[in-house]
Amino acid sequence: MEAIPSSMPGSIYLSQEFNLSMIYSTTDKVVLGFLGRALSLEMTAVQQHLTVSRLLKLRGFDEISEKFQHEAHEEMGHADRIIGRMLMLGVAPNATQLRPAQLGDSLPEVMAVVHAFETELVGFYQRAVEHCAANDDFDNKLFFEQLLQEERAHVHEFANWQQMLKPST
Ligand SMILES: [Fe+2]
Ligand SMILES: [Fe+2]
Repeated sequence: MEAIPSSMPGSIYLSQEFNLSMIYSTTDKVVLGFLGRALSLEMTAVQQHLTVSRLLKLRGFDEISEKFQHEAHEEMGHADRIIGRMLMLGVAPNATQLRPAQLGDSLPEVMAVVHAFETELVGFYQRAVEHCAANDDFDNKLFFEQLLQEERAHVHEFANWQQMLKPST
């Protein structure tokens, strides 16, 4: 069988190449599962933060609205890194569980929703890191650790912003 050209720019065989390598990927299936769920969670975060940003803008909180715009772009960057990782490991990106944005009835409720979601992400990446550590998968452990650190920073940022949005008494 004729070899599939792998590095030719604009190769029409690119997707076929990834589909073939998907079948033969030797990466731990649990790690691939973490990556797939991570992609779903990061895409959910993009939608959630953009929604909150718009809500805040409508209510006149322009400064924090812009912070959420920036946050959404950071989450997009995370999704981009995960997609790159999945392609490198020979699997097609497959986010399948985009959650609807949660709104809440009040600004404190919206902020609490966002804080809870980011805390969930921290727990998720913590479990991914622990799995990789238990299986001596240092490369993927490092990958998830970086995301874990950045999500921890988000949790702290949101806690600060919650304070900023509290009505002064
Ligand atoms: Fe993220
Ligand atoms: Fe985040």
